[in-house]
Amino acid sequence: TTVAALAISATAAMAEGETIGFSQIGSESGWRAAETTLTRNQAEERGYQLQFSDAQQKQENQIAAIRSFIAQGVDAILLAPVVATGWDSVLEEAKEAEIPVVLLDRQVDSSDDLYLTAVGSNLVHEGEVAGQWLADAVGDKECRIVELQGTTGSSPAIDRKTGFENAISGHDNLSIVRSQTGDFTRAQGKEVMESFLQAENGGQDICALYAHNDDMAVGAIQAIKEAGIAPGKDILVVSIDAVPDIFKAMADGEANATVELTPNMAGPAFDALEAYWADGTMPEKFIQTESKLYTQSDDPAGEYEARKDLGY
Ligand code: AHR
Repeated sequence: TTVAALAISATAAMAEGETIGFSQIGSESGWRAAETTLTRNQAEERGYQLQFSDAQQKQENQIAAIRSFIAQGVDAILLAPVVATGWDSVLEEAKEAEIPVVLLDRQVDSSDDLYLTAVGSNLVHEGEVAGQWLADAVGDKECRIVELQGTTGSSPAIDRKTGFENAISGHDNLSIVRSQTGDFTRAQGKEVMESFLQAENGGQDICALYAHNDDMAVGAIQAIKEAGIAPGKDILVVSIDAVPDIFKAMADGEANATVELTPNMAGPAFDALEAYWADGTMPEKFIQTESKLYTQSDDPAGEYEARKDLGY
């Protein structure tokens, strides 16, 4: 065998890296953009061919993408499911085709034998951490809270609400007075916050905002400022994700706390797939990522600098 022939076969082997279909929800938030970037980077580093499909927030698009991945015979499917219900049939089709499916960051209501593993955080716990932070920050003061929920029917919207309510349940001075979806977007976070402010005496009757993600909090902060009220002071702001812009707001004193959700879900997902492909090793059904609380005392300017070029 000549050196040239060896070089050609090595290139062919690299080009034959596993093909992964990735059904992504869309690009509703900075966090989502970072998850997409990191998944692409991880796939490239590992020599995979990544088939990327952006569902633009529609479950039907995700189901169609998964069916197309199955038809192509991909080696594995990554699915970030927009909502929790309605996945049984398509997951059964993937199982039938012996294609392992790994869930990223959101959960489904289907039986766990329909997917290989799920990588994500404990979403209830994230809500509890946010609620506990607020309970501690407020002390005995009466506090009327407004809540911006994530996408209706998505596991983070359901679980972050439950967790937050668990944390404040023993505190009679804390109550959620308004709660509505902002669909995890900055624009809707702003719009819904404007209606909350209007309904609550121009914002004078609101003590705190709990947003299910940072992007909605950033939109809401803008609305609060436009109403002539000081976010982070007159209205406390706590949210989830730890994207660069929330650290900027924290450094400016306009947001108070965030709970980190790592956007690197693909790393643990690909590790699990590689072990499975190598010798059939079955991963745990849930690979849990960390949920760290950051407040204004945790060097938000430094955290902003550390994250601003990471693809958010
Ligand atoms: O599923 C994770 C959530 O989805 C993130 O918290 C949010 O920013 C994203 O849109």
